[in-house]
Amino acid sequence: MQTIIKTNELCYKSGRRFLINHINWEVKEGEHWLVFGMNGSGKTTLLSMIAGYKSPTSGTLEVLGKQYDKEHIFALRKEIGWVSSSFFDKYYANETALRIVLSGLFGTFNIDYDVTDADVRRAKALLRELRMEGKMNRPFNSLSKGERQNVLIARALITQPKVLVLDEPGTGLDIRAREHMMNTVRALAESKKVTIIYVTHYPEEVQPFMNKTMLLKNGRAFAKGDTESVLTSENLSILLDETVHVAQNADGSVTMDVDAPSYVADKFYGEQVSL
Ligand SMILES: Nc1ncnc2c1ncn2[C@@H]1O[C@H](COP(=O)(O)OP(=O)(O)OP(=O)(O)O)[C@@H](O)[C@H]1O
Ligand SMILES: [Mg+2]
Repeated sequence: MQTIIKTNELCYKSGRRFLINHINWEVKEGEHWLVFGMNGSGKTTLLSMIAGYKSPTSGTLEVLGKQYDKEHIFALRKEIGWVSSSFFDKYYANETALRIVLSGLFGTFNIDYDVTDADVRRAKALLRELRMEGKMNRPFNSLSKGERQNVLIARALITQPKVLVLDEPGTGLDIRAREHMMNTVRALAESKKVTIIYVTHYPEEVQPFMNKTMLLKNGRAFAKGDTESVLTSENLSILLDETVHVAQNADGSVTMDVDAPSYVADKFYGEQVSL
């Protein structure tokens, strides 16, 4: 099986802190990965590097057998669809939905080259498919969270990438839009045309096609391998530092219960606030 992504001792350091700490990871053709970890564990940082939008501070990273050097970066970015509100919300403001989708053709933030009529037709068709008809010329910062998410999904899909990296794609979507998104992602995985890497905090978004899982804790790959053996109560309880009960159901769905502490309001509003 072809290696799609390979990292060797991959690190991202900010000041003296390792946001990503010596990750060795191999993603092979036919695998679809769930990446799971607490807020701040490094998921977006790791996947920004994988998608070619952040440079590692040390270690190596190969995508489809190539490194993100000057020669390959824009070509490679087109092979990887990168959907991340946490990442792109910082960059896009007044650009219109349509222009953002078209920028995906170049792996850049703006439209840096000429686009053809066919490109525009495809961008519009994707936006229409994602129920963004009538909002194509709206500035990004005037769109709702779910609408922005759909723009980023269309931007990622416009090049028909070989790898699709989805950073919390369901966050902010209403339940109908989330079902549509999950069905689309499943259909893409089943088409065998694309490798999916999927970040979510929500067990109901875990789908049977996600046959591999990486658990990230403080920038380290705490566990990785077959979802069945990685996504367990034992691992999740250590990862989240609470007692977690994980059930991997016969239909491939996953349920999780966390025994989180309960609070009394006095703790926050009482005479002696004890936080
Ligand atoms: N540019 C930066 N400079 C310094 N620290 C950063 C920078 N970007 C992110 N961080 C920190 O790195 C850590 C990892 O952030 P990251 O966004 O990768 O986490 P995450 O796992 O995606 O979290 P979430 O689940 O909340 O999206 C966090 O503690 C964050 O505050
Ligand atoms: Mg994140």
